[in-house]
Amino acid sequence: MKGLILSGGKGTRLYPITFNRAKQLVPIANKPVLFRVIEAIQEAGIEDIGIVIGDTGAEIREAVGDGRRWGVRVTYLPQEAPLGLAHAVKISQEFLGDERFVMFLGDNVIQGGISGLIRQFASSDWNSQVVLTAVDQPQHYGVAELNEQGGIRRLVEKPRNPASNLALVGIYMFDHNVFRAVNAIKPSWRGELEITDAIQWLVENGYAVHPYVHRGWWIDTGKPIDMLEANNRVLAELSHQVEGYVDRDSKVDHLVTVERGAEIINSVIRGPAIIGEHTRIVNSYVGPFTSIFHHTHVEDSEIEHSIVLDHSKIVGIPSRIEDSIIGRDVEVTYSPIKPKAYKMTLGDHSRVGLL
Ligand code: TTP
Repeated sequence: MKGLILSGGKGTRLYPITFNRAKQLVPIANKPVLFRVIEAIQEAGIEDIGIVIGDTGAEIREAVGDGRRWGVRVTYLPQEAPLGLAHAVKISQEFLGDERFVMFLGDNVIQGGISGLIRQFASSDWNSQVVLTAVDQPQHYGVAELNEQGGIRRLVEKPRNPASNLALVGIYMFDHNVFRAVNAIKPSWRGELEITDAIQWLVENGYAVHPYVHRGWWIDTGKPIDMLEANNRVLAELSHQVEGYVDRDSKVDHLVTVERGAEIINSVIRGPAIIGEHTRIVNSYVGPFTSIFHHTHVEDSEIEHSIVLDHSKIVGIPSRIEDSIIGRDVEVTYSPIKPKAYKMTLGDHSRVGLL
């Protein structure tokens, strides 16, 4: 079996964090979402992985390389524009050939333990297997309607009146017959070749599409709130360890990871939380569900339930920072110099909530 990861797209809903960066490389618990996806595929014993890339392709190539780090071979598949998930399958035909494959969206985070499912498909005679999960607002997703035997009757993309609460999770498995489907369907009203339409085409034309209902959690990291939610889930399940330096005046509980070269000085860190390599936390409080990435400096400040990327600086902030995503190379500081005013240099699409 081969793996296909979709890492093109624009990531507009995550602006400004993804204004000039691939959303699949935003770290969740200090590891890019895309790396988590590669690991999930590798765990299922797949060694040949194609990654569909778009405008942010150069950055993805640089971060992932040839895949040797994970013991896999990565082939990059440039897509000229984000013309839909089924379009991404279409342009990958030469790479995939006649092999069965699993396709993952490069920005989805799913609770582990799905390699059994992939292996099951590898040895089955189904033409496709789709992963479904119960969601609260099915009208925002591709929704599956099942028949009495538990098979798929119909799939509808973002239905106004959903027939069930079972949404398509960003993991799909196919054999080569999917190329018939992606070549037969037409673009939807939003101009994209929809994977839902391709699977519906397989169902209508008598191919065996097997539904699997996933009971664990699954998060599509489309919006900032989803990133924070995914960060909470992954931090809560991580096995934590302290490799960096914690001084005697600091308190760090057993649900905290302190990565190599990080320093915690006179601070309190309450887990689950992760402090990245060469980051310094000085005279500060870091509360639960916080991930602070590499080479960042936090001093005389309090932060919780947030994600901070690398090379940033948070110093002397008088009130607690919460529910925030702070990008790379950002400075948040306090200045006692008069006149008393907020002084900001914010990029396009920034969001600031002031008291
Ligand atoms: P989406 O979240 O549907 O699209 P997007 O990344 O453009 O985000 P936004 O709506 O915020 O602008 O994409 C899901 C995943 O699939 C994501 O990793 C990008 C990838 N993708 C492709 O590789 N090619 C495509 O044609 C599309 C539509 C998405």
